[in-house]
Order: sequence, then C-alpha cells, then structure tokens
Amino acid sequence: MKKLVNIVFLSAVAGMAFTGLAQAADDAVIEKYNKTCAACHATGAAGAPKTGVEADWTARMEKGMDTLVASVTDGLNAMPPKGMCYDCSAEDYQAMIEYMVAPQ
Ligand code: HEC
Repeated sequence: MKKLVNIVFLSAVAGMAFTGLAQAADDAVIEKYNKTCAACHATGAAGAPKTGVEADWTARMEKGMDTLVASVTDGLNAMPPKGMCYDCSAEDYQAMIEYMVAPQ
C-alpha cells in the first residue's frame, strides 16, 4: 500500500514538473516573439497581419499551419526569411502563429 501511495505521489510531482516546463516553453516563445515578430506584427507594419486581429488572419489560416510555417521559414514579400528569429524552430513558429491569431 505504501508503494502505491509513493507511485501516486511521484506521478503527481512529475505531472507538476511537466506543466512547469510547458509554461516555461510558452514564456520563451513569447519572449522570442516580442524580440522579432512583434516588430512588424504588433503594429501591422509593411502590411503584416496584426497580432490579435482575427480578421487579418482568417484568409491566412485557411492555407493551413504547414504553409504558414513555411512562409515564415522562407520569407514572404516584406517578411524576411525566418521572420528575423534565427534560433526559432518550426514548433516555435507554430506556437507564435497560434499566439498571434488568438484575440489578445
Ligand atoms: C520585418 C517585418 C516582419 C517580421 C520581423 C515578421 N513578419 Fe511575419 N509578415 C510580415 C509581412 C509584411 C507579412 C505579409 C506578407 C504578405 O502576405 O505579403 C507577414 C506575414 C506573416 C504570416 C502569414 C504568412 C502567409 O502565408 O500568409 C505569418 C504566419 C507570419 N508573418 C509569421 C511571422 C512570425 C512567426 C514572425 C517571427 C518569427 C514574423 N512573422 C516576423 C512582416 C514581418
């Protein structure tokens, strides 16, 4: 019985640690967003779809997430390749896009 209690306790601790990690990852992505994407997407500079403005994103989201991530990676018109975030992964771009599309 004691063993079972230990297992339950340990998995609860592991669960919390995992949630903590996920939170840290989100914060890191938002920090990268603020340093790079935000320069254009917070203001809509150069015709960039604006963060939090759903209407700016509707048509773009219809292209699908993979295409959007590819647009950032390769650049698109006034958007430079990689969106100026040179240490961002495809997962980071996806999280950033989800953040930008969500109403603030
Ligand atoms: C120098 C300004 C600039 C920066 C920095 C920038 N963008 Fe953009 N972004 C744009 C512009 C302008 C467009 C619109 C391009 C067009 O459709 O002509 C755009 C479009 C997009 C799109 C839509 C692509 C599509 O296929 O319709 C996504 C997604 C995007 N940006 C994500 C990001 C992310 C993520 C970052 C940060 C890593 C970022 N952008 C950084 C200017 C920028």
